[in-house]
Amino acid sequence: MCGIIGYAGLSPALPYLLKGLEQLEYRGYDSAGVAVMDGGGARVVKSVGSTSRLKEKVSGQTFTGGLGIGHTRWATHGGVSEENAHPQSAGPLYIVHNGIVENERVLREELQSRGAVFFSETDTETIVHLVHRAMEEGKSFPESVRSVLPLLEGAYSFLMAHADPAEPLVAVHRGAPLLLGSCSHGVFVASDMTAFPGEVHSMIPLEVDDMVLIRCDGRFEILSLDDRRERKPEPIRRNPYAVHGKGEFSHYMFKEICEQPAMLDRILASRIRREEERLSVCFSPDAEKVLSGVRRIRIVGCGTSYHAGLFGKYRIESLAGIPVEVDIASEFRYRDPVLDPASDLLVALTQSGETADTLAALRMARDAGVPTLALVNAEGSTAAREADATILLDAGPEFGVAATKTFLSQIALLTLIGLYLASDDRLREREGKSREEILSDFLKIPALLDKALSLSAGVIDIARSLGEVSTVLFMGRGGDFPLALEGALKLKEISYIHAEGYAGGELKHGPLALVEKGTPVISLLSPDEKLILKMVSNMKETLSRGAFLISIGSERHQEEFSSVSSMSLALPDCPPLFFPLVSAVPLQLMAYHTACFRGLDVDRPRNLAKSVTVE
Ligand code: AGP
Repeated sequence: MCGIIGYAGLSPALPYLLKGLEQLEYRGYDSAGVAVMDGGGARVVKSVGSTSRLKEKVSGQTFTGGLGIGHTRWATHGGVSEENAHPQSAGPLYIVHNGIVENERVLREELQSRGAVFFSETDTETIVHLVHRAMEEGKSFPESVRSVLPLLEGAYSFLMAHADPAEPLVAVHRGAPLLLGSCSHGVFVASDMTAFPGEVHSMIPLEVDDMVLIRCDGRFEILSLDDRRERKPEPIRRNPYAVHGKGEFSHYMFKEICEQPAMLDRILASRIRREEERLSVCFSPDAEKVLSGVRRIRIVGCGTSYHAGLFGKYRIESLAGIPVEVDIASEFRYRDPVLDPASDLLVALTQSGETADTLAALRMARDAGVPTLALVNAEGSTAAREADATILLDAGPEFGVAATKTFLSQIALLTLIGLYLASDDRLREREGKSREEILSDFLKIPALLDKALSLSAGVIDIARSLGEVSTVLFMGRGGDFPLALEGALKLKEISYIHAEGYAGGELKHGPLALVEKGTPVISLLSPDEKLILKMVSNMKETLSRGAFLISIGSERHQEEFSSVSSMSLALPDCPPLFFPLVSAVPLQLMAYHTACFRGLDVDRPRNLAKSVTVE
């Protein structure tokens, strides 16, 4: 993970590095650091914590150098400390690095046996020592960098600067994303285009094995390990919904939860087409092409995206009758999934479009000749570029580490994919309604999300009751089961309360042993006549063991569930097909308020990062 940025140009580098690092903090915020080549040598400043701490440290100092590198860290090798913060150095060389050098231990031992002295526990430091050694053997700086690349195993990228600003800034892409952007005063290179200032209008996404030499006069050369490569710049399309800042909201997460009604309205307006008074679902021609004739869907994702994928399985199988398999991407890539190019479509779910395991699964399918479709939020991300077709989540940027609005967008789009693939007859048979009627119902859901948001007083009461507990169980059946998993993930990741989600019928197969007097059990009850009584029975089973029952259901069934619950929330009624979209809102709010009651950093939970670019 980690975010890296470099600048070589005519303006002082430091303000650009600091601004860029703030934008890259979603990749990690354990520590931050910069090195600026400032005439007489390099000036390095590092601090534990986020860029704001680094900014405090450099304030009042003047850095005039026009060549510099910066880093925001998510610790992999070595604890969170200033020693392990980047840049790391050896001799006149300074490096910032994203990714992992897998054979770090062997390299370190070999370097140490030949006299190298290490100051950190990072794998990064091995790279800079190796390059330094190559220079001491007489190679030029760029040649030295190139010569060590074959020794390094793993997926990574790095930027390396020399204390002499006459030397180029060297950028290397070996599997972790790196983009090059230029403007009138210089050249930027960063993990993500959000780190580029507004004056950068075009960028070149670097490819694996690219090495770039960047000079302060704005010249750059892109080299591969073997030869020179040509690349065409692409225009940068800034997201029209990229409203930065929290505005009147206390946290990004809260703002992002509240943005969901407008977001869903926007998504449905662009995906549900009205022609001669008939409604239908539409996607881009590329997406419709990969969806046409599909006989089996393989969904991959991690974390929240995986939960959204599970929800997609319930909806697509039931609406369209097409088999769907869902895998955690990190498992998919290391087992031997049986892929069939003639029938399969691989759908990669990823908010960031940069999750290492999801990208690996996507590439595996592509290499096996299976068509690929990416559902991504980050336009221009690696998944969006590498998949045969893309459906954008259109959620607008999500800054809170906890995925909220992108989850809602994912489950809404997967429902739309199910509706797109379904035949009219099957829809009538399964849902008892025409496509027209179902899509009209869907268009009413954003207003119900608004109503769900307005129930905040009840949610806050529930959150207060969770403030001191140590374990919470979530349960649901059907489409509510993935929601139970997601509700538990939201609660644990930002409130640090142990939480697990289960299918309602599963509790008595083991987890019920956890229930004792006062254990909170949160039940999700879509208004599905087939499942509601089964759920109420499961709730009673926990109640007899002393559970503190909290239920979230629809007004229609309020009587059934509130009579057995200690606390309950009745959400506006809607077809069961869409109910989990509405109940996602109180689940998110519950996690949010619980974390606030516990005084935690909601937007930046400990140990996590927004984009997980290592496996
Ligand atoms: C969710 O709140 C988490 N931040 C995390 O599980 C996330 O969904 C996961 O890392 C996958 O990210 P992606 O959607 O960007 O691939």
